[in-house]
Amino acid sequence: MMGVLGSSSSSLAITVVLGLILNAVVCYGGTSSNYSRTAFPTYNNTDMPVDSEAFYVPPGINSPQQVHITQGDHVGTAIIVSWITPTAPGSNIVLYWSTQENGTKIQLAEATIGAYRYYNYTSGFIHHANISNLQFNTKYYYQLGEGQYARTFWFVTPPAPGPDVPYTFGLIGDLGQTYNSNGALAHFQLDPLNGQTVLYLGDLSYADNYPFHDNVRWDTWGRFVERSAAYQPWIWTVGNHEVDWAPELGEPVPFVPYSHRYHTPYEAAGSTAPFWYSIKRGPAYIIVMAAYSAFGYSTPQYSWFNQEVLKVNRTETPWLIVLMHPPWYNSYHSHYMEGETMRGVYETTFVQNKVDIVFAGHVHAYERSIRVSNILYNITNGLCTPMKNLSAPVYFTIGDGGNEEGLSNAMYFPQPYYSASREASFGHGILDIKNRTHAYFAWHRNEDGYDVISDSLWLTNRYWYPTDDSN
Ligand SMILES: [Fe+2]
Ligand SMILES: [Fe+2]
Repeated sequence: MMGVLGSSSSSLAITVVLGLILNAVVCYGGTSSNYSRTAFPTYNNTDMPVDSEAFYVPPGINSPQQVHITQGDHVGTAIIVSWITPTAPGSNIVLYWSTQENGTKIQLAEATIGAYRYYNYTSGFIHHANISNLQFNTKYYYQLGEGQYARTFWFVTPPAPGPDVPYTFGLIGDLGQTYNSNGALAHFQLDPLNGQTVLYLGDLSYADNYPFHDNVRWDTWGRFVERSAAYQPWIWTVGNHEVDWAPELGEPVPFVPYSHRYHTPYEAAGSTAPFWYSIKRGPAYIIVMAAYSAFGYSTPQYSWFNQEVLKVNRTETPWLIVLMHPPWYNSYHSHYMEGETMRGVYETTFVQNKVDIVFAGHVHAYERSIRVSNILYNITNGLCTPMKNLSAPVYFTIGDGGNEEGLSNAMYFPQPYYSASREASFGHGILDIKNRTHAYFAWHRNEDGYDVISDSLWLTNRYWYPTDDSN
């Protein structure tokens, strides 16, 4: 008996030692949060009902609704105001005035009015107005609609592009329209460091998950985000749930609802399609990439990107940020390796041009990489391992707005080398750019009703501080 016990103890000891060695050799990744969301009845993955108060319907049957704004030019002196009137075209006029003239100089801009059909759905009247020649760093009010049902909103233009103008961006992705989505948006709006502009990482309404891609859910989503998107620009990235390609429904053209509802300033960026474009905003040069449009060699997007990235003047806009939907460095089971094709085409250019940060969504969880690249492979050399690279970006996945598909909580173990931090929770991010060298990033978890910072770090600029190894 003693012999058996002794043998068993020895085996256990060997196993423990081997385990420790293997752990030291193999588990070289960062941290995997063991935080587990508890089920809580009012914070769940169910879409809010169509008549929810979160989908604000203004009084007046034809009042402007689903109001949202985005940048309207390349530098931040224009804004696109978009809204929908449900039953009739109504006024196409935007009245606007700045606080600098004490509201005495009221100007107007005219909107285009359009509509679309999708299967058995007919949209309301979709208005888009581009208000241009605005002053930098100025608060403007704008008014839509007529008479007693006119609605007034406001926005603040960014400072002129410059290397040391502080600016704060919110990061939201894969929001959807569940109770969790409502919590994530509320936490973002209540954050004391409220992002001045939202960088939205794709997958908006998830209407395509409904029978016949029920476009009523595009309307409810537009009403849901109005409380933020009418007051601060949301910079749009296209996700897979925006494709809405359904030839079986007689809808063979992709992106019909999205492209009618959400405009971007792509022409000002020399792009030939609204899905890939760039803007300057304060200290940042932001390039938006389209993973669900052609992006390979010789495509319009490829040609545009390779010219665009060379235009970035880091003395004017030191922070080079890229937005895309599917992440390149992902260690969740969900959408694993989906970014590989785009990574293979573009990663070398990212490193050569010292992209600072890449924000992606798509995976419904949070993840942050080390500065990593995998650009040595040439088919014959076998060099296909991600390696630390101080000229490479930090990759963030923030696909955790809270949509009805739920969390991506299955992770690969051991945590890969490139993964610095990951957590399967819903939440939002804030990027607080201080000056040309430093920015502070924080990711906020929705801990049921509470907003808890779960990951944060200082990021140093790759152009101005290229040798800093702290992030
Ligand atoms: Fe997605
Ligand atoms: Fe998604």
